[in-house]
This record gives sequence, C-alpha cells and structure tokens, in this order.
Amino acid sequence: MRFVVAIDGTSASGKSTTARNVAQRLGWFFLDTGAMYRAVAYEVLRRGVDPNDFERVAEVAKEIDIDVKPGPDGQITYVNGEDVSAYLRTPEVDKAVTPVSQNPEVRKKLVAIQRMVGKNRELVCEGRDMTTVVFPDAELKIYMDADINVRAERRKKDLEKKGIHMPLEEIKKDLMRRDLADSNRDISPLKKADDAILLDTTNLTIEDEVNFVLERIKKRLKK
Ligand code: DC
Repeated sequence: MRFVVAIDGTSASGKSTTARNVAQRLGWFFLDTGAMYRAVAYEVLRRGVDPNDFERVAEVAKEIDIDVKPGPDGQITYVNGEDVSAYLRTPEVDKAVTPVSQNPEVRKKLVAIQRMVGKNRELVCEGRDMTTVVFPDAELKIYMDADINVRAERRKKDLEKKGIHMPLEEIKKDLMRRDLADSNRDISPLKKADDAILLDTTNLTIEDEVNFVLERIKKRLKK
C-alpha cells in the first residue's frame, strides 16, 4: 500500500520530531528532507566552496551521492557512502543551507531522490515543499507552525543538548531569517498547501502532535 504523510512548516515547529515519532509508531519509513539539504551544505563547506557560489554548488550537487536509511534514532544521511548525520545540525550548516537549498540543481537532484524513496510505500516525510512540490498527491498533508518565541526556546534546548550555547535572541533572529528566506525564495517556497491541515504546536507537547497526526491517518484510512 502507498500512504504518504507529507508535513511542511517553519523551522523548529516540531516537524522532524513529530514525523519521526509517527513513523516509528506505525513502522513506516521516515524521510527527513531538511537533513538531505543539510548534507549537501555540509559537503559544500567541507570542500571549501562558498555556499553562495551558484555554479560550484551545482557542481558539488551533481558530483555527490546522497542516500538515506532508517536508523535507531531516525534517519541516517550519507554523502558518498559516509554517514554524516552527526555533523548536520551546527550553526555553520544552519547558515550555509539557506543558499544551498535555493540552488535549482540541488533541488532537482534531491526531489528526484525523495520521490524514489516515496514510491509505493508507507512514508512520513517532512520539509518545506513536501505538500506542494514533491508529493502534491500525498494521502495526508499537514502544515506545522508555532509562535517564534516557543520555537526559539525549543531550538535552544536542542543545541544545548549538543553542547552548543547561543543567546536566545540570536537563535530567534536566525529562525526568522530562515523563515523569511524559505517563504520568499523563487523556487519551491514554503507555503501552506490549500488542502493541508494547519497544526499550531505553540501549546502542544510532542505527544499531542503525534496523536493528532495518528488520528488523521486513522480517519483517512477508514475512508
Ligand atoms: O528542516 P531543516 O531545518 O532541517 O531544513 C534545513 C533547510 O533546508 C531549511 O532552511 C530549508 C531547507 N529545506 C528545503 O528547502 N526544502 C526541504 N524539503 C527541506 C528543507
């Protein structure tokens, strides 16, 4: 059976954790597409390429293999067969991923991989263009958002778990910068699809979010 749950939304709205948990509960495939864009950005930085250098970033994207596999804690992301998952959530990659994800060659390559992964299987995926571009025919579409202050607090806690300490105001500014860039870019901008269900997570726990999505899946399966 094919059943695609496509989740889009703003940075740190809870997409990844919710999608991963829903997939785990159901034994479905979890696809974190932000990690794929981050993996390209990481490789761009590792090669000393300027993330804003359009041509060279496109070349890097063409040259490398990106692959994803399920792991014990979610997705394992590979660049040329090497597991780079541990290096993808740093402030450096956070910055580089914005121009890298605006590169049409990068998007073309990753969208093709994402559609292949989603062929004929049960899958929960999250990103910015899952409901609008990659899986416009998804069985269930969700758009997640939350108050900016709540999102900044969540991101701060995530970073602190990794030993990265940043002032809340700086994190907030970075989230706003990324929301603005994601929503206003020419190619595949972040926007709520008309048929996506809005899930405001400001006052919700992860458990609430997971249950909300599971309920919607159940309803959709009954139809
Ligand atoms: O969800 P995230 O923070 O890991 O995403 C990292 C960046 O990648 C984000 O700034 C926007 C971009 N992205 C995208 O353009 N399209 C996707 N499907 C997923 C992420």
